Amino acid sequence: MNREEALRLIKEKVHKENLIKHMIAVEACMRRLAAHFGADEEKWGLAGLIHDLDYEETKDDPSRHGLVTGEILRGLGVDPEIIYAIEAHPGHKRPRSKLDWALFSVDPTTGLIVASALMHPSKDLGQVDTDFVMRRFKEKRFAMGANREQIKACSMLGLKINDFITLCLEGMRKVADELGLGGE
Ligand SMILES: [Fe+2]
Repeated sequence: MNREEALRLIKEKVHKENLIKHMIAVEACMRRLAAHFGADEEKWGLAGLIHDLDYEETKDDPSRHGLVTGEILRGLGVDPEIIYAIEAHPGHKRPRSKLDWALFSVDPTTGLIVASALMHPSKDLGQVDTDFVMRRFKEKRFAMGANREQIKACSMLGLKINDFITLCLEGMRKVADELGLGGE
């Protein structure tokens, strides 16, 4: 499956614009992390791009979230390592590989970064720095949906949180306009 095919599938199954933005943000972080680790950027990017394909369908039944996507992708012959990472990201399987841990920890991090950018006076990811996001990270009541423990799982990649945030920010800046966070 290439990126175009993935986007076509996403357009069929995902209707909320914010969810598509979330998937694009996760893709961007995954690509940046893959580059950092010398891993396959296309593969990591695809896992990020399509990881919430079934979200709208399973939102009332979280026990199926990720697994439905796994079924669809298996039928399309997608790389089993991508499928495993997607099934592991909501906790159905234990993350094992770097790809798994990256998707697991990136998922809530994009939400934290988007919320941080939205409260930054510039609303511009290019002007939001790691320190700003780290201060928001430490505010327990800020963007409470962004699970801090899950973000901290970046340690499984051998990364300190601030280095992990820096990489995610770098990735997301490349798609800032698509995310509506390119400043006003
Ligand atoms: Fe997600």
